Amino acid sequence: MGRVAVVGVAVAVAATACAVAAVVVGRRVRSRRKWRRVVGVLAELEEGCETTVGRLRQVVDAMAVEMHAGLASEGGSKLKMLLTFVDGLPNGCEKGTYYALDLGGTNFRVLRVQLGGQRSSILEKEVERIPIPQHLTSSTSENLFDFIASSLKEFVEREGGGSENSLNSRRELGFTFSFPVKQTSVSSGILIKWTKGFCIQDMVGRDVTECLEQAMTRKGLNMQVAALVNDTVGTLALGHYHDPDTVAAVIIGTGTNACYLERTDAIIKCQGLLTTSGGMVVNMEWGNFWSSHLPRTSYDIDLDADSPNPNDQGFEKMISGMYLGDIVRRVILRMSQEADIFGTVPSRLSMPFILSSYLIAAMLEDDSPELKEVARIFKDILEIPDVPLKVRKLVVKVCDVVIRRAARLAAAGIVGILKKIGRDGSGGITGGRSRSDVKMRRTVVAIEGGLYTSYTMFREYLHEALNEILGEDIAPYVILKDTQDGSGIGAALLAVAHSSNSVDSVQLL
Ligand code: BGC
Repeated sequence: MGRVAVVGVAVAVAATACAVAAVVVGRRVRSRRKWRRVVGVLAELEEGCETTVGRLRQVVDAMAVEMHAGLASEGGSKLKMLLTFVDGLPNGCEKGTYYALDLGGTNFRVLRVQLGGQRSSILEKEVERIPIPQHLTSSTSENLFDFIASSLKEFVEREGGGSENSLNSRRELGFTFSFPVKQTSVSSGILIKWTKGFCIQDMVGRDVTECLEQAMTRKGLNMQVAALVNDTVGTLALGHYHDPDTVAAVIIGTGTNACYLERTDAIIKCQGLLTTSGGMVVNMEWGNFWSSHLPRTSYDIDLDADSPNPNDQGFEKMISGMYLGDIVRRVILRMSQEADIFGTVPSRLSMPFILSSYLIAAMLEDDSPELKEVARIFKDILEIPDVPLKVRKLVVKVCDVVIRRAARLAAAGIVGILKKIGRDGSGGITGGRSRSDVKMRRTVVAIEGGLYTSYTMFREYLHEALNEILGEDIAPYVILKDTQDGSGIGAALLAVAHSSNSVDSVQLL
């Protein structure tokens, strides 16, 4: 080979090497640029979800102000502040066997509780969870209630071995119905609207108790609703049964809400309301709380716009188990669209509600070094195999930001209630007094709902925020108590208190 040829080959090889290198470098530059975009999406999310203690305190104030407005006039606030007609809470003397039905989410529960007649003596309880077939949540009220009444009948029959007697004797029932209801008495009320994805149009505006009692009659069940309660109210009742310092209850599950004990003279929209105790439990329906201080992102705005109830339940959509997974899904979808972290956008990522809060909590709690659970969820649920570790880490971070914001906002809501009733150490909503002038009392808040009870991280974030907002002097006086099955058992307790042979209930305030 001549010299010229050798030089030619060398030049060609060098040119090829350069071209290959250019392609490799180009790819790296592009992939770095994409990664920067992904990290940018995360940074933007973190900024949008920021919940500094200063911002949380603004939410606290807004909550207390809205509570006042909701109590002042009908429609005065997005907080409905519904009267419950529960003016006394269980005092421990309740005795006998009572039933409760608890309807509020994807499952309903039937309970039988045997009460021993002394504080905290629940001798026996039997709880059966029954999944509600999806189609019934958007069917007719008759279909839904027939299904519930049939399940209740089977439960009662099992107790009495199906004997005539078990079905003939008239029983009183506590009915927990966890949707916004305008109560007309302690045992009746009109459904205002559905939440949590339920949509049975013929039910709105109708008396909930009547619907259940008619279905029970159709099924040959001799039962009567002695108390119709929201799940928060049931939880407060059980909380108070165990610990008389309980003044409020909060649910953080599929949906979210709170109730608390209010003085009747503070319920201005109901002038002249008289109760023997001088107080009444108010169902806040805080899921519908709104304030410009809430840290809202474009994902929240889109989720709301795509929901069946836009401009409604704004606080709930940032906090509760029904929505958190879908906020995370929307963030990952945007990352995938803007920087194709998974190649072409996987179709399952576009499916609303494919990621439940259960799955995002599982990803957040995955402590294996290679994030095996995250990889499994991506493969099995989203059908995205082989997600690189750095992407998995990023996804965990997204879950963390969304769950942390939810927990911290819930904490601010709780302090808002404490502020309204003068238990946050600040001297109440009008302030004035310095913290050192305020004498603090032990204050218990009963809590129920899967997000709080099942997820350690959520619980820890909530407690941390509560301590930050209240400060170390006041925080020790405020105790959050996990009140398992409170919504149902509490309804049974209230059924006792309001049944024909009721014993007196304690003074509220
Ligand atoms: C409902 C409330 C209920 C809460 C928790 C909300 O969607 O409006 O009535 O208490 O969920 O179950």
